[in-house]
Amino acid sequence: MIQTLEWTDSGVRFIDQTKLPTEETYVTCKTHEQVADVIRNMVVRGAPAIGVAAAMGIALGVKNSKAENGAELKKDFDQICEVIGKTRPTAVNLFWAIRRMREKFEYLRMRPLAQIKQALIEEAQRMHAEDIAANQAMGRHGATLMPQSGGVLTHCNAGALATCGYGTALGVIRAAVEQGKKIHVYADETRPFLQGSRLTAWELMKDGIPTTVISDNMAGAMMKQGKIGAIVVGADRIAANGDVANKIGTYTVAVLAKEHDIPFYVAAPFSTIDLETPDGSKIPIEQRNPREITHIGGKQMAPEGVEVENPAFDVTPAKYVTAIVTERGIARPPYGEALRKLESQHLAVST
Ligand code: MRU
Repeated sequence: MIQTLEWTDSGVRFIDQTKLPTEETYVTCKTHEQVADVIRNMVVRGAPAIGVAAAMGIALGVKNSKAENGAELKKDFDQICEVIGKTRPTAVNLFWAIRRMREKFEYLRMRPLAQIKQALIEEAQRMHAEDIAANQAMGRHGATLMPQSGGVLTHCNAGALATCGYGTALGVIRAAVEQGKKIHVYADETRPFLQGSRLTAWELMKDGIPTTVISDNMAGAMMKQGKIGAIVVGADRIAANGDVANKIGTYTVAVLAKEHDIPFYVAAPFSTIDLETPDGSKIPIEQRNPREITHIGGKQMAPEGVEVENPAFDVTPAKYVTAIVTERGIARPPYGEALRKLESQHLAVST
């Protein structure tokens, strides 16, 4: 399995996703500030991977702390969380991870400092393992929705590289292929950062899953030609009513799917579901550097000084989503009810 990120004795190690597919290189962060930089610069990206990277960044910062007592460590902890929390605003997994690490920290507050440091490292590693298990469970649930054979379209990269392994949307595809389904993936290239052509195609080819890359503006034509039997994408944040924030261009794909009567599935772990945000209009959308639009491979593609918009995500209204696949089961409309039910069933089991 691809090691997207891992805790090592010398720091947090990441595969550098800005260099793929032509170079497979790794970056080791030795401080939480370096972890914040690799999240911001998209060396690591994808909502679940960002969440676990944040947790490991916090564990690293606390490990490096020179604090001599609990009060000093608390001050350092808050400052570390602030740095990590200012990296990328849309993927709720980042804030979920900070909250989970904070809860662990508060629970351990009175313990010796060395014990707190060790427990936070273990918590981040537990989150890493849980993420892979969640993806495999999502795969088992979601594979049942995939066609027996034919084209499945995906947008961006919701694969092993966007998670700690296996993937969400690509996990569903992987599980379907493992069950013997003959799936051919159509990967939108995903302008401007090209996660589809650079990352999705790279990891699917490594697994020997047939893949065709198309530019984003070809998706409608592929659907019209009958080449696409289902669509599965990941998510950065799902609001309580089922509205889905995901990579820019997802909304267009969902509207096209409706027109062509193609099921549109979203696969995401519960750490991506934000029941505190009532609907998609309240989800903060990250705006990125205009240079991602005006330049390709360092070459200028638009006139100097032209106005540019570069929202990294859009929101697909729940009405376009056929089902949401989670590790706890499949949610179907009305999502407000279905998501709350999955949440309360889980709380009942874990208490
Ligand atoms: O900007 P990115 O590359 O972090 O955006 C990633 C996506 O939009 C993914 O589809 C989403 O995070 C789900 S990843 C399992």
